[in-house]
Amino acid sequence: MGPAVPAGARLFLALTLCLAAGAAEPEGRPAGRKVLPPPSNLHYSFGQLCKLKWTWNPPEGMNSGCDLEYCSEILINGIPQENREWSRNLFREEDVSLNEEAHFRVRSECKSDNTSEPSNWVEISTPPKGAAGTAAVGINCTWYNLEYMVCTWLPGQNASAGTNYTLYYWYDGLGNNQQCQNYIYGDNFGCNFSLSIQNSTDVYPTISILIRDNSEEIRPVCANRNPTTIVKPGPPRIVTASMIKDEMHIEWQNPGTFPPHCLVYQVELKDSKSGSVQQHDIKGYTEAWFPSVHPNTVYVVKVRARVEGTCYSSNRWSDWSEEKSIGENTDFTFYIGLILTVPLTVAVATIILLVYLKRLKILIYPQIPDPRKIIKRMFGEQIEDFQSYPGDDFLNVRKPAMEEEIHYLVWIENPESSTSDNEDRERPALQVKAL
Ligand SMILES: *[C@@H]1O[C@H](CO)[C@@H](O)[C@H](O)[C@H]1NC(C)=O
Ligand SMILES: *[C@@H]1O[C@H](CO)[C@@H](O)[C@H](O)[C@H]1NC(C)=O
Ligand SMILES: *[C@@H]1O[C@H](CO)[C@@H](O)[C@H](O)[C@H]1NC(C)=O
Ligand SMILES: *[C@@H]1O[C@H](CO)[C@@H](O)[C@H](O)[C@H]1NC(C)=O
Ligand SMILES: *[C@@H]1O[C@H](CO)[C@@H](O)[C@H](O)[C@H]1NC(C)=O
Ligand SMILES: *[C@@H]1O[C@H](CO)[C@@H](O)[C@H](O)[C@H]1NC(C)=O
Repeated sequence: MGPAVPAGARLFLALTLCLAAGAAEPEGRPAGRKVLPPPSNLHYSFGQLCKLKWTWNPPEGMNSGCDLEYCSEILINGIPQENREWSRNLFREEDVSLNEEAHFRVRSECKSDNTSEPSNWVEISTPPKGAAGTAAVGINCTWYNLEYMVCTWLPGQNASAGTNYTLYYWYDGLGNNQQCQNYIYGDNFGCNFSLSIQNSTDVYPTISILIRDNSEEIRPVCANRNPTTIVKPGPPRIVTASMIKDEMHIEWQNPGTFPPHCLVYQVELKDSKSGSVQQHDIKGYTEAWFPSVHPNTVYVVKVRARVEGTCYSSNRWSDWSEEKSIGENTDFTFYIGLILTVPLTVAVATIILLVYLKRLKILIYPQIPDPRKIIKRMFGEQIEDFQSYPGDDFLNVRKPAMEEEIHYLVWIENPESSTSDNEDRERPALQVKAL
């Protein structure tokens, strides 16, 4: 008969047999599993800064045979957050952001028991305070040098101008909340507080940051940060920079209290002549030698630091250290060039000056008629000249007496200008001799 049954029918048969066996197993129990009663008296309270604590009582009317557990989860704005948790505790405490609606739900389950169904969910929600869009946004915190924390933020879109946001912080081990005192007013709002966490356990607690305003209108907002992910070292300080022959030695200081193996440094050498840049990563040491650098070249050196992934999971580089110049520019062609160009420039400048002075003289003292010609004209050839130069209207029109006067004036000026002319003509000849 077996081979006659089609494959589909066989699968169906197998399934019904399976289901029958499963139903038969709980000895004499009615079909369908028993639904557990839910936890009772669920409520919430605000714990430490940015923490909400939900508490409840055990379900009523439980049979003793059940290994009871509570399954709970938190929905943010109605969306499950993959934070479902099973525990025997009668409470759950979580970090929340406070600016969104947190919806908490819990139910009872019997562990390793397939005879009962989990209970229905019991739910409670915590609506945010204040008006939408008034909470601080863009919160960005940096832990500088394991010494102080700087957080910046922007005012919410709907927050009134002049909203005075206040920052509070807390971490496990601090005791009470602290209010940040050192505010920064710039492009962003910000606050700076000292934060040095004892490293006894090597496990840093989460830092809770609450930013709010005293006005009920402004919505508070919480940011919870793992400090090791936001570490930024301070800039290192170069203490030695020396060049011996063609080997450069640079030494700098650990910028803070980081264990030596926790820092990676980057040394940048910039060749000031060619502008070429070399970057070298140095792990665990605070000095380095660079062989075969170009002698006769000035290098500009700077160093920055970053934490190692094995110690802290942050990849922010520190700012660069101050720059140090090292090396000497003993380039001989430069000096030879200098020795040659200085006198050359002076010579050229002198020549230009002389030419210029000469031109200036021509401008100040316009060309003067040759005195010999004038004398010739005055005595003897005067009449002939008047006739032989009929085009000379100027002289023709004027009275002879006037003409004589003009000539006389010219005569007075003449010797001075002719002597200075002679001097000028002689000087270059002298200079040539001197050279
Ligand atoms: C629960 O189901 C498994 C199979 O899924 C079965 O082996 C086990 O016997 C069941 N336990 C009880 C208590 O019914
Ligand atoms: C600002 O307020 C208006 C009106 O109350 C609201 O519709 C809007 O969503 C708010 N803006 C933000 C960014 O939440
Ligand atoms: C936060 O600030 C640091 C330092 O100013 C900057 O490097 C980083 O990009 C900022 N991060 C964000 C998400 O804005
Ligand atoms: C914010 O603080 C400043 C100075 O402390 C004060 O003048 C201003 O009125 C405050 N703004 C609001 C909205 O309270
Ligand atoms: C934060 O405060 C410390 C200590 O007062 C100071 O050294 C540091 O420069 C401040 N940082 C900023 C960004 O204001
Ligand atoms: C802890 O702090 C001490 C002293 O400040 C330091 O010597 C040590 O290296 C630190 N250890 C770690 C893992 O940071």
